[in-house]
Amino acid sequence: MNKDLLIEQFQRSGQGQVFAFYDTLDVAAQQQLLAEAAEIDLAEVRRLNETLLGHGAASIDLEDLTPAPYERLPINGGDAEAWAEATAAGEAALRAGRVAAFTVAGGQGTRLGYDGPKGTFPVTPVKQKPLFQVFAEKIIAAGRRYGRPLHWFIMTSHQNHAATEAFFVEHGYFGMAKEQVHFFRQGRMPAVGFDGKILLESPGHIAMSPDGHGGSLRALDRSGALDLMEREGIDILSYFQVDNPLVRCIDPAFIGWHVVRGSEMSSKMVPKAYAGEKVGHFCEQRGQLVVVEYSDLPKARQEETDANGGLRFNAGSIAIHILDRDFIRRMARGTGDASLGFHRADKKIPTVAADGSPLKPERPNGVKFEMFVFDALPFAKNPVVIETDRRDDFSPVKNAEGNDSPQTCRDDQLRQFARWAKAAGATLQTDDTGLPTVTFEVSPLFGDDAVSFAASWKKLSPPPEISAGLYLE
Ligand code: UD1
Repeated sequence: MNKDLLIEQFQRSGQGQVFAFYDTLDVAAQQQLLAEAAEIDLAEVRRLNETLLGHGAASIDLEDLTPAPYERLPINGGDAEAWAEATAAGEAALRAGRVAAFTVAGGQGTRLGYDGPKGTFPVTPVKQKPLFQVFAEKIIAAGRRYGRPLHWFIMTSHQNHAATEAFFVEHGYFGMAKEQVHFFRQGRMPAVGFDGKILLESPGHIAMSPDGHGGSLRALDRSGALDLMEREGIDILSYFQVDNPLVRCIDPAFIGWHVVRGSEMSSKMVPKAYAGEKVGHFCEQRGQLVVVEYSDLPKARQEETDANGGLRFNAGSIAIHILDRDFIRRMARGTGDASLGFHRADKKIPTVAADGSPLKPERPNGVKFEMFVFDALPFAKNPVVIETDRRDDFSPVKNAEGNDSPQTCRDDQLRQFARWAKAAGATLQTDDTGLPTVTFEVSPLFGDDAVSFAASWKKLSPPPEISAGLYLE
């Protein structure tokens, strides 16, 4: 776009401060600033300032919330026949090549305090495999099982895109065909001060940050990923977060529920471990499925109990979804009323003073805008929520220590390996939480569930002793 026109548009929108230092920059820096400015949709920023800032700020609607219905696992009273039917439908979809995997990996991982793309973080107990490798091997295993290698889409951010790609190159794509792995960047949003003015991070840079995992819907469209899916006959996307190595990246039963129900967006839930667990809640609101974040549901509601003494809002969202390709396109393009809203997060945003010197705020000084993928649920036809066993699907690495840390995640992987090994007839000691007394590891290529583990185990003769450092591959 023409430089003068762009600057004029910012000035007319009351955002001329973005160019306050323009004349002091060298030509390359001027170009850089113009490119950043051109990424910004000023009308969108104006709308967000009107709706999310100031007195008229929209608050989260908590009226008429009831717990959302979900399909229980057969062991918890669910319909075993319906689950078997779903599994068969999911397997058929996989054999027909209708499914691809999708990881959102654009987050900044600040809580973990790890410097680098989160997917490069080492997580497994013996081999210290990075998260990305665990997912790659699960995706390869599924491809082998169903006779159709799967495509894998990975959403990165501006900060970690190059490092993520380089990591895959360096590790030979962890055994996947390079043509099957697709990286694309998510969009960015400018941060604004509480007065709605776009902030500069430095004289030549706008304070920009990733637009949230909800930005994945737009980014899948814009990057050509949806076109690629269409060309390849893929209409089902298996969505998971980069922080959770236990996730069944490709789960036939889940895919099958989605298919059988004609759902446009499906989700997995686990019963919450305790009232204050930091997960979203599946709820129903005026006939629509919604997720209410842990930070938005008041403590009293989180602690409410039902007639049986259990938590009333017990359906925790573990951020695992199946998305229909055409639904993603509809949401991305904002066709009809279907489009994701933004959430506001008040943050300490490094910026510049009037003379251009750096300002490091000690208190929140502005707002970042993010979209959440689960906000698409109310727009989806026939959304289905299924229960899953937490032990086989969820143990994220979020914090450096304590809950959801590398330590808890490692222990949960070990418990899973121990359960599979015991079920297959191996001898090993575990404590009363199921944690084995020795550290060993199972590659997803050896087994990625109890059944595939048992099949591989049977082929070993004699079977090895489960001893410290054993790696089954
Ligand atoms: C998230 C969910 C929560 C759920 C929990 C399960 C939100 C707001 N909350 O919480 O409902 O119960 O996970 O673990 O999502 N990401 C991007 N781009 C972004 C922001 C995030 O790709 O701009 C990715 C991250 O890389 C990560 C995932 O989204 O894979 C989750 O982000 P995070 O901000 O860590 O979510 P949580 O607060 O942990």
